[in-house]
Amino acid sequence: MEILLRPQAAEASYRAARVIARLVREKPACVLGLATGRTPVLLYRELARLHREENLDFSRVTTFNLDEYVGLPASHPQSYRWFMEEEFFRYINIDRKNTNLPDGCASDLRQECRDYEKRISAAGGIDLQVLGLGSNGHIGFNEPTGSLGSRTWVKILSQQTMKDNSELFENSADVPRHCITMGIGTIMEARHCLVMAFGPKKSHAVAAMIEGPITSMCPASVLQFHPRTTIVLDEPAAAGLSNLEHYRWIEQNKLDWQKY
Ligand code: GLP
Repeated sequence: MEILLRPQAAEASYRAARVIARLVREKPACVLGLATGRTPVLLYRELARLHREENLDFSRVTTFNLDEYVGLPASHPQSYRWFMEEEFFRYINIDRKNTNLPDGCASDLRQECRDYEKRISAAGGIDLQVLGLGSNGHIGFNEPTGSLGSRTWVKILSQQTMKDNSELFENSADVPRHCITMGIGTIMEARHCLVMAFGPKKSHAVAAMIEGPITSMCPASVLQFHPRTTIVLDEPAAAGLSNLEHYRWIEQNKLDWQKY
């Protein structure tokens, strides 16, 4: 795992944006896996700035989001489709036809999950997957003790996740209990995973992901098996790690081509 530590979330997000910008410049028709939540907001703002001021071109990029709530239409302000439009797509030159999210209102949810996997494969797989981290170690909406080999499917949110996400809803009773999420197996097939975690509430999950055992109790820990994972942290999120000096040393001694 490549671990990049920055004092604050803003600097960490700029670094993450550089990882993505490099890919988009090197491979203009790349496939990006995207995430929602509070964590990637500054990343999307920085990518929008790079588009505006430095001509970062998204016209040939395809995107697949990790997940979507069941039962919220695209027009619902808490749907992830709405979030992506508001926080990112409207600021860049992406072709909406190339943006994919699971449809949480599909009449046949199981078929929608199978089709989503097929669409990812037909696009050639995901080049880079952005991931936030749940406070319980979830990635996408893959909650603790779920299969580490799962594929895109309908999942039931844990009570912890519903509580964490209720801050974004006017009324906590409105938080959906079901979602469609890429599975852990789907995420593990991305060629590069870019995990972002900020703030003290994530420090426990960050330590479990990087330094704990590989266990479905912390789904993100499976990334220890992934051949290419970059993890971008601010200091509060990194506070629970035991080997901080080692991660700093590694970053300081990178060869030029290993740096972003
Ligand atoms: C949500 C999303 C995840 C997200 C995570 C963290 O439940 N399904 O994709 O990464 O929880 O959210 P936040 O970034 O708001 O802390």
